Amino acid sequence: MFGRVLFILFLTTAQCTLPKDQEYWKKLAREEFEGSLSLQINNNIAKNVILFVGDGMGINTVTATRIYKGGASHRLAFEKFPFTGLLKTYSANKMVPDSASSGTALFSGVKVNQETVGVDATVERGDCAASLKPAARLDSLAAQFLKAGRRAGLVTTTRVTHATPSGLYAHSAYRKWECEATMPQDAAECKDIARQLVEDWPGRDLHVILGGGRQVFETNSTNTKEDPYDTWSCRRRDNRNLTEVYIQDKEKRNLKYSYVKNTGELKEIDHQNTDYLLGIFANGHLKYEDERNTGDEGMPSLTDMVEAAIKVLSSDQNGYYLMVEGGNIDMAHHRGWAKRALNEAAEMENAVQLALRVTDPKNTLIIVTSDHGHTLSINGYPLRDSDITGIAQKSPYDGKNYTTLSYGTGGPDAMQYHVVSDGNGTKIVRDEPSILVATRFDYKQPAGIILDENSHGGGDVAIYATGPHAHLFTGVHEQHYVYHAVCCAAHVGDTAGVCSGAHAHTNTLILYTIILAFIVVQMFL
Ligand SMILES: *[C@@H]1O[C@H](CO)[C@@H](O)[C@H](O)[C@H]1NC(C)=O
Ligand SMILES: *[C@@H]1O[C@H](CO)[C@@H](O)[C@H](O)[C@H]1NC(C)=O
Ligand SMILES: *[C@@H]1O[C@H](CO)[C@@H](O)[C@H](O)[C@H]1NC(C)=O
Ligand SMILES: *[C@@H]1O[C@H](CO)[C@@H](O)[C@H](O)[C@H]1NC(C)=O
Repeated sequence: MFGRVLFILFLTTAQCTLPKDQEYWKKLAREEFEGSLSLQINNNIAKNVILFVGDGMGINTVTATRIYKGGASHRLAFEKFPFTGLLKTYSANKMVPDSASSGTALFSGVKVNQETVGVDATVERGDCAASLKPAARLDSLAAQFLKAGRRAGLVTTTRVTHATPSGLYAHSAYRKWECEATMPQDAAECKDIARQLVEDWPGRDLHVILGGGRQVFETNSTNTKEDPYDTWSCRRRDNRNLTEVYIQDKEKRNLKYSYVKNTGELKEIDHQNTDYLLGIFANGHLKYEDERNTGDEGMPSLTDMVEAAIKVLSSDQNGYYLMVEGGNIDMAHHRGWAKRALNEAAEMENAVQLALRVTDPKNTLIIVTSDHGHTLSINGYPLRDSDITGIAQKSPYDGKNYTTLSYGTGGPDAMQYHVVSDGNGTKIVRDEPSILVATRFDYKQPAGIILDENSHGGGDVAIYATGPHAHLFTGVHEQHYVYHAVCCAAHVGDTAGVCSGAHAHTNTLILYTIILAFIVVQMFL
């Protein structure tokens, strides 16, 4: 309490000493200007592609995360990427998309109906028969990389069968068919998403699968006090153990694999003997970054998972595709916890920094984007470096403070109004936010319209790119454009060969050198 008061005093004093002089602004501009002048087009072929998806990370979330991490003039790692664009996120049938339709657009190159995964728009939600038609089934970036003999994997803070990651490997008429228990009678011909992941192609050939979702993999999975079942989602009932199915499949095919269940095991993987990595760390989604157990027996951070994933994927010479989802950004937004959402986005930025450190910009295309926005807004006229999760100022209308962050929509507990009766009848009165409560991770920002929970937002999302062919990701584009541009940059799929450029493939170079040396030697024999 006393510390908080001191901190607020510090902020008030710091406010007076924030640089405002001409030189400060000119220096900021000069640095950016020099960056722009030294921009170079990298026409190499992308040997590796890492696609970060901040789920629900709309532009306001990025702005708020930047301020949360370092103040208004701060730049997040991906905000320094040379190329930036905007994506239009509407789905085939809705103005505001869900993660299944938008993930499928990003990863498979066409817009599809809301809540369908990996199938085109001929499939209506829940139409099992239509989703079984081969022509309706889409090949994802993961499938294209595997076809080209390269590696592919996914990392997420949600269940590995959730809407976004499932777009890489599943074909399902309904995103909620994560396990058999939620599937209706008329979908008996269709396989649940978890089984598609471990039994079908391309799921069973993915080199990295890291995230949550044990309850859709195993009947009666471990249920401890620390890791309760997610009651919002499916729980497997058919007595299959898909973890065991995964292991049996790799053993039968004589593939080198590792299966891990916590941070300690993830850190101790024998990378010499791991071409396939399965890590399931929770029954449902992984715990939020602010509340996870950071010990070895706990759940890993997104950065821990990305580090392990890149090690497994990069041990093959031919390159890889990795999808990384900051899935809990969206989960926190849905519950109305803005600070928690910012903290999740901040952790995804840590993972981006790690990826930048361990990859080579000559051959690795790194993209950061989002599948859709949320209804988060940054309100009023707060002081330049005031706490983004705090108070903006007093409303001249009712004389009460209001928070800088609020949502357009939210659950009933985000309603911060109540009705009061006095001698003159009844009126609606707004609750005054307390600064001590508003800055907590579990504070629900006020919402304008009350629904069951905060909904997605339909605004454009930003896309940031660096590395080979990053210049394809500038301008305003349809969301499904991303798949086509990545295929082009990486020379896979339909647009392979459209993007000209040099292979930064060292093994190809070595091969050419050997052939040349062989010819030269032949000439002299
Ligand atoms: C799961 O638990 C139920 C109830 O405890 C039990 O009847 C069932 O046999 C268990 N299934 C497995 C695969 O252990
Ligand atoms: C499922 O199989 C895995 C791997 O063999 C094992 O660790 C786990 O205990 C099994 N789960 C259940 C519920 O039997
Ligand atoms: C309103 O916010 C200001 C600035 O944070 C604070 O000093 C003041 O105590 C707040 N008023 C109430 C009634 O909470
Ligand atoms: C009712 O309204 C009158 C006129 O605006 C005001 O003077 C009075 O205080 C109000 N009564 C109560 C109980 O709020």
